[in-house]
Amino acid sequence: MQILKNISLKSYNTFGVDVNCRFFAEVFTEEELLPFLQSLDREKKTFLILGGGSNLLFTKDFEGTIVKISTKGIEIIAETEDDIYIRVQAGENWDEFVAYCVEKGWGGLENLSLIPGKVGTAPVQNIGAYGAEVKDVLFEVSALDRINQIHRIFSNFECEFSYRDSIFKRRENQFVILSVTFKLSLKPVLNAKYGDIMEELTSLQIDSPDIRSVREAVCRIRSRKLPDPVKIGNSGSFFKNPVVDLDLLPSLKEKFPGIVSFPYGKYVKLAAAWLIEQCGWKGYRAGDAGVHPNQPLVLVNYGCATGQEILDLANSIKADVQKKFGITLEIEVNIL
Ligand code: EPU
Repeated sequence: MQILKNISLKSYNTFGVDVNCRFFAEVFTEEELLPFLQSLDREKKTFLILGGGSNLLFTKDFEGTIVKISTKGIEIIAETEDDIYIRVQAGENWDEFVAYCVEKGWGGLENLSLIPGKVGTAPVQNIGAYGAEVKDVLFEVSALDRINQIHRIFSNFECEFSYRDSIFKRRENQFVILSVTFKLSLKPVLNAKYGDIMEELTSLQIDSPDIRSVREAVCRIRSRKLPDPVKIGNSGSFFKNPVVDLDLLPSLKEKFPGIVSFPYGKYVKLAAAWLIEQCGWKGYRAGDAGVHPNQPLVLVNYGCATGQEILDLANSIKADVQKKFGITLEIEVNIL
């Protein structure tokens, strides 16, 4: 394995922020990954696991080793009458994997189409969109436990998933995901209740949708609403939708009748996009850092913004939302 020195990370993060790292290693097989990580740990070297670089913001140079995971492989490990179990290496591109499964007719991932990133990072923040989350189809995760120096298998339950959260996110330095096993349906049941999907299927004049048409609908919605990171630097939603106590809702509704909320178990989820828009930030731009004009939850780099400029913008938005609504926005993206 080659270890490169002083590499620019501009093309390795979807924000397109231009920072350098001290060392850079790309790993292609699980056999070389495990001993390499163990040796870095033994030598007490700082390192960062990089998947697609689609959920992080570099605010400064990284003074350690970037380990880029490029392990590949998709393998069927079991099949029943109803389901298929597929183990996928962490470095596989997420959307290529989704497209592959949809093409085969295996259901469960179609709503999660076109999300940037790699398979190995999907469980970390329990990626979700259009009424689906990765936890709904995840069977188990294989990971390295760096503290105990053992290889561990996590069942779905042991991943402790919740909205944009998991054990891997809460203990981000402890585990490195090596592969993920999904349980997909051979008799797909569509999950097209989400308003945008219904509308899109209607506009496409599809009467009896299948998982291919749901994927198509999701790709069309996302391409329309969300900026393509290849063209405009971004990391998807920069903030989480705040989850608040149900008791708070009546007084919020009284003060702000237009507030957008969704039931979430015993709680209620508020649309952060609405809160940010109400504070006047939608479409804002200062230099090359901005708030996307179609989806204010997404912060963008129009070219040469620094990570610090984007973070400063995020903090100004947070402060305004706090002041106007008394609600704390939580940053979803990993800040480095
Ligand atoms: N809204 C506004 N103004 C806007 C846009 C939206 O007020 O400019 C309000 C609307 O009322 C809308 C509501 O916000 O109904 C929700 O908007 P949307 O359906 O676009 O979804 P979101 O809650 O803003 C979440 C995910 C997205 C995911 C979409 C679709 C989070 C943090 N984000 O956004 O995920 O694509 O739902 O399911 O949960 C990502 O994580 O990177 C991401 C893009």
